[in-house]
Amino acid sequence: MSGDQPVVRMATAGDAWGLVTHLDRHMAESGSPGTPVFTPIPAGSVWHDELLFLQLQDFWQRPLTEFGWGRCWIVQTGQSVVGALVLRGATTAAGLHRATLAMGLEADFRRRRLGAALLQHAVAWSEQQSEIAWLDLRVFAHNVAGLALYGRHGFAEIGRVVDFMRIAGEPLDDILMARRTPSLSTADH
Ligand SMILES: CC(C)(COP(=O)(O)OP(=O)(O)OC[C@H]1O[C@@H](n2cnc3c(N)ncnc32)[C@H](O)[C@@H]1OP(=O)(O)O)[C@@H](O)C(=O)NCCC(=O)NCCS
Repeated sequence: MSGDQPVVRMATAGDAWGLVTHLDRHMAESGSPGTPVFTPIPAGSVWHDELLFLQLQDFWQRPLTEFGWGRCWIVQTGQSVVGALVLRGATTAAGLHRATLAMGLEADFRRRRLGAALLQHAVAWSEQQSEIAWLDLRVFAHNVAGLALYGRHGFAEIGRVVDFMRIAGEPLDDILMARRTPSLSTADH
């Protein structure tokens, strides 16, 4: 890995390929030694896909008033993306006051406050967007690191799905968390 200092910033269209190649590496880490299972997507799934690449660029330029919008923040070191937070708007117009986030860092870059930095960037940006009243996420109940990080940044548990997934025969509970955007929101009655 590069010795460059990691930089956290919002992704632009030129970062889409770096993001999908990061996802190839990162998603393969789920359930590997030292990393809890964090995704139901099977190991070996290919993320560096031309269609996803094009879709990301489309999502990232949509206004927040258009369903299917997306924004992304990345951790970059040298030319590589090594962590990312993806925020997605609803897929129906009636749900546009909520956005859902997912995030992760490659193993060599964890426990360096980069996850906290990604979340701070996304939360601060969301608080400036009058369209967004809530941030939502889902995390497996065994994911101690994720739960601690989200709890520290104002997310609270709003529900739990017992036996949500069975991965390698193992039942996994899922926790739903949300964070209300404190100000600006016109959608927040
Ligand atoms: C969850 C994840 C994003 C945290 O990112 P990170 O950069 O390692 O976390 P940070 O260094 O910013 O830590 C921020 C806080 O999170 C908590 N935390 C992070 N890792 C932790 C761990 N292994 N155990 C307990 N708490 C942890 C702590 O509260 C920490 O604050 P502290 O350093 O003051 O104690 C990272 O572990 C990861 O990518 N995991 C694999 C993918 C994943 O699980 N994504 C979430 C799926 S919903």
